Amino acid sequence: MSLKVAPSLLSADFGRLREEVRRIEEAGADWIHLDIMDGNFVPAITMGPLVLKALRPHTGLTMDAHLMVADPGAHLESFARAGADIITVHAEATAHLDRVLREIKKRGLKAGVALNPATPPEILDYVWPLLDLVLVMSVNPGAGGQAFIPEVLPKIETLAGQIRDHGWPVELSVDGGVNAQTAPQVVAAGATVLVAGSAVFRDPGGLELIQAFKTIGGPRQEV
Ligand code: DX5
Ligand code: ZN
Repeated sequence: MSLKVAPSLLSADFGRLREEVRRIEEAGADWIHLDIMDGNFVPAITMGPLVLKALRPHTGLTMDAHLMVADPGAHLESFARAGADIITVHAEATAHLDRVLREIKKRGLKAGVALNPATPPEILDYVWPLLDLVLVMSVNPGAGGQAFIPEVLPKIETLAGQIRDHGWPVELSVDGGVNAQTAPQVVAAGATVLVAGSAVFRDPGGLELIQAFKTIGGPRQEV
């Protein structure tokens, strides 16, 4: 799988979201990452399915809804109806991960699991057949613009190795603190999707970073 870039709208200008989506699409973004926070699983409140629904007619890009919400199973229907392509739930947010993943797949969507920095990869051992995406959090969820936590690199390597060894069709996404400095380490560790918010929307030359990310060399891309 070639490297994909998924800008996170969390750091975009919320007053001009449709225009921001057009800009990242023109700059070569592969997916759009939507950070959904409920003020419960994480303290902040961001956006809900209505925002995703409003953007849906304006882009053909894959929209990944990263649900940082308590009880994610209760919200699958509204995000499916809004037009999400991938729903990613936190393993820590549900006692019924298998059931929630099956509920996502039942709706014909792709299913992802996000892992907080301290969550071990073994939590996925019995759900791999249900997965299309694993999202490794490289910051603690709740805000954009935080510093990359390097202790997650071995976890990315472990997961990338498992996916490669088994030949599973699962994307490995890394989310948090990804920028020009940290992206090469993340790619070398085996990530196939880079999520970036502040580096794309807040840094000067951020839009060019989308193409720059894709040229990062690494053994992963040559496989
Ligand atoms: C954090 C979110 C991330 C965040 C990434 O809770 O899940 O998607 O927006 O932002 P940056 O790239 O600024 O770390
Ligand atoms: Zn996210």
